[in-house]
Amino acid sequence: MRYANKVAVVTGAGQGMGRAIAQRLMREGARVVAVDVNEANARETIAQAGGDSAGMARVCNIADSAAVKQLFAAVDEKYGRLDALVNNAGIGSARGDGFAKLMARMSERGKQLARGETPTVYPDITIDMEDEGWHGVLNVNLHGTFYCTREAVRLMVKHGIKGAIVNLSSTSALSGEGAPHYAASKAALVGMVRSMARELGPRGIRINNVMPGAVETPILKGVSQEWKNQMIAAIPLGRIAEPDDIASVVAFLASDEAAMITGADIVANGGSYFK
Ligand SMILES: NC(=O)c1ccc[n+]([C@@H]2O[C@H](COP(=O)([O-])OP(=O)(O)OC[C@H]3O[C@@H](n4cnc5c(N)ncnc54)[C@H](O)[C@@H]3O)[C@@H](O)[C@H]2O)c1
Repeated sequence: MRYANKVAVVTGAGQGMGRAIAQRLMREGARVVAVDVNEANARETIAQAGGDSAGMARVCNIADSAAVKQLFAAVDEKYGRLDALVNNAGIGSARGDGFAKLMARMSERGKQLARGETPTVYPDITIDMEDEGWHGVLNVNLHGTFYCTREAVRLMVKHGIKGAIVNLSSTSALSGEGAPHYAASKAALVGMVRSMARELGPRGIRINNVMPGAVETPILKGVSQEWKNQMIAAIPLGRIAEPDDIASVVAFLASDEAAMITGADIVANGGSYFK
């Protein structure tokens, strides 16, 4: 019960890793505010963990700064404290980023390689990327993470709490796998965390990144089995992670057990890439 009497906000808690993280923290005693753009899914996360006594569901688009302010005001009103923020909400693709074309081209390129041919089809995602697609991913993964972090820090400082913040970055920030807008958004969190760790350390607030490799969640739905097989082949531990594999790392980092860890990027990828 590392989270007894503690309150945590988990964004993107309606499915995938966010749900696993929220439910892990609730099992360990936290009251969790499960935040998502999908209200029904956020409610289901709380309901599965025991309902109102376990926490509350809130609808919020983290890319909307004003909505994020309202969210944290509601947390303050309901619980009057905040011990942990998990910035988990993130997207891999946005309208206008040419992702569907990329998938089709990667599939065709894979077939050409499998036939032993010199490929004549290229990924070309940068060529196809429109402003809307680039900003769409950055708006959620980077700006939304900042908006939530700012409000969480304001609340922690207001109540004199030495809280912890954990971001879901990605191995793709280091390895360059994945699309450029996604990799850039996750790499930006490395700089943000290092700067904020220096700034917030004197107040006793810690902030860290977790960098998963591939994790079996709905975000991987658009990825072909062929591509998944290539991922598995590159993971020394031989499997794609389950959401709980990552939830346990987050629960450790946001707990007092990690009291001397701040500004770190904790890689949890089965060995697919070494930092
Ligand atoms: N699955 C992977 O392989 C993997 C690997 C490395 C990092 N990550 C990162 O981990 C995090 C969770 O990934 P996942 O696979 O569980 O994703 P997912 O797509 O399964 O779930 C993401 C959740 O976030 C919510 N969400 C999306 N945009 C939002 C917004 N603007 N405001 C509020 N909620 C929003 C969605 O509704 C969804 O419930 C993401 O940041 C992702 O980039 C995932």
